[in-house]
Amino acid sequence: MSETEETLANLLKEDRRFEPPADLAADANLKEEAYARAAADREGFWAEQAERLSWDRKWDQVLDWSNPPFAKWYVGGTLNAAYNCVDRHVEAGRGDKVALHWVGEPVDDKRSITYAELKDEVSQAANTLTELGVEAGDRVAIYMPMIPEAIVAMLACARIGAPHTVVFGGFSSDALASRLEDCQAKVVITADGGYRRGAPSALKPAVDEARAKAADLGHTVAKVLVVRRTGQDLGADGWDDAVDVWWHESVEQASTDHTPRAFDSEHPLYVMYTSGTTGKPKGILHTTGGYLTGAAYTHWAVFDLKPETDVYWCTADIGWVTGHSYIVYGPLANGATQVLYEGTPDSPERGRWWQIIEEYGVTLFYTAPTAIRSFMKQGREIPDRSDLSSLRILGSVGEPINPEAYVWYRHVIGGDRTPVVDTWWQTETGSIMISPLPGVTHGKPGSAMIPIPGVAAEVVTEEGEAVPNGSGGYLVLTEPWPSMLRTIWGDDERFKDTYWSRYEKQGFYFAGDGAKKDTDGDLWVLGRVDDVMNVSGHRLSTTEIESALVSHPKVAEAAVVGAKDEDTGQAVCAFVILRESALGDGASDEQSDIVAELRKHVRKEIGPIATPRQIMIVPELPKTRSGKIMRRLLRDVAEHREVGDVTTLADSSVMELISQGIDSGKGED
Ligand code: WT7
Repeated sequence: MSETEETLANLLKEDRRFEPPADLAADANLKEEAYARAAADREGFWAEQAERLSWDRKWDQVLDWSNPPFAKWYVGGTLNAAYNCVDRHVEAGRGDKVALHWVGEPVDDKRSITYAELKDEVSQAANTLTELGVEAGDRVAIYMPMIPEAIVAMLACARIGAPHTVVFGGFSSDALASRLEDCQAKVVITADGGYRRGAPSALKPAVDEARAKAADLGHTVAKVLVVRRTGQDLGADGWDDAVDVWWHESVEQASTDHTPRAFDSEHPLYVMYTSGTTGKPKGILHTTGGYLTGAAYTHWAVFDLKPETDVYWCTADIGWVTGHSYIVYGPLANGATQVLYEGTPDSPERGRWWQIIEEYGVTLFYTAPTAIRSFMKQGREIPDRSDLSSLRILGSVGEPINPEAYVWYRHVIGGDRTPVVDTWWQTETGSIMISPLPGVTHGKPGSAMIPIPGVAAEVVTEEGEAVPNGSGGYLVLTEPWPSMLRTIWGDDERFKDTYWSRYEKQGFYFAGDGAKKDTDGDLWVLGRVDDVMNVSGHRLSTTEIESALVSHPKVAEAAVVGAKDEDTGQAVCAFVILRESALGDGASDEQSDIVAELRKHVRKEIGPIATPRQIMIVPELPKTRSGKIMRRLLRDVAEHREVGDVTTLADSSVMELISQGIDSGKGED
């Protein structure tokens, strides 16, 4: 049995079960009957969910699937996403309800914002963007820390129909530049900096660099709108009066009157870039009516949201899709009260998250397995210092949650009262697809269980046949859903090819994940089956990091694999062949200099999250006769396993060379 099969066999023996608490079950938003109702009339069910929103004009047709894979949802309907997230709650008399309890990283730097205040700020920002020349359809890039203005910026874009593209603040100026160019962003919204681990960390200089790089690629950014967050010095060259505009001198002075305009249900809402199997990130396009329906419905159903009493907190960054669907669009469309936290979990001390839960009485909490594992390591004494008894549901997202982490999360954080919902979804799906319903489904540590009502998923063979219980295969979605991606920005062919060509005959969406159905028919998502890694719940492409490495003058060839890592799920491991000119005499300090230089280079090209945990300088890479790198063998090396079958290698001595080099410690970082 291979190691993965063995792990799987162990996993599938998992027999702990956690029933939903009786009071939660009795009062659950969604009950058992919803599954059958949705299956019997899927479109009717989705029509019902769309009624959660306020439409200016109601749709004529729920779904137009006449030209697959290009879907149209709620055809003919018009609405404004920002109106749905803000104004309508004020109009319904809930203007004084807190929308955001914002907590800055510096202790005591906090601010609670009501829906009425949010409406004013979003209106002001919408007026400023219009004044800066942004029109419906223009793209606006957002590169910001986790401050309320980031959410205001996103909603202001939505309000005027300008699709936003939020770029994670941890990405480098190069990564930002390529996104600005790809979506031809007219305006960038940023801040001077944000707080990270107790110190101000600059953002504006990266925007200046990215703007210059985009200009080299032939794209001009017209304006940069800058929030003053840290007050740090921008330097003599750090401000360009012709381009840069302070937020406090524009937005904060603008009128709070703004009439939202209704847009077509299929009007683009945002583009979110994510890594694929090639070096070029894909701009995933989401549109308005279907996306907002999916985000609002799932947030209500999976977290059993009771907007009057719940305090919700999702720890994701708005730079990822989780922040879009489960900080901005889902919770705000539902009129929730939520916590928004700027910093890291351990600043100024390790118990910060738990103190925040106690202070605000958080009831619904959504985070990632990588964070849970790091808390497990630190020990339960830290969370035990805070009163976490307000919590009633815990969520997990981003990667498979190992049963140990699940049980610890439920036991230590949830005091054994709280269901854990392991939610599977993707940037492309827009909202949660597979998850337990906390008031219906029992919990099974490690399993995401079954598709939520309205969603149809299956595990299939290479040929597209459903596998029997107890077997593994590829995860597919078999029916269209409202929050599905509509295309890859500017590249319909890549969209068809990546997601729809593999099961073209069946019309299935191919998710890129492997999965297993256990003997009860419950789903276990096992991870990517393509050249995509998952590091701390973030998607990274092996090829993208390889191209970053080979863009360094000392590198001749590079191969990157994701190796198992206790903390981050997977870690980036790189195998690098140096150019002869860079080889020198092979002294070990010289090699470690090069390794350090290459790590820095990857940080600069992509960002800190892509920095390899390990770079191994090797004389050769294992390749098949047709020249394809055999990553499987490299993964064996990176995970310190006996190297597997090498018979398809063009040169079978290569693995020996690599192993020798590594055993002698040379080139290891
Ligand atoms: C990939 C999507 C969805 C927002 C965060 C990541 C993996 C995600 C789970 C889960 C097992 C999961 C999959 C998926 N993944 N959630 N609950 N169990 N795997 O979004 O960057 O688009 O990545 O993350 O591999 O394909 P993303």
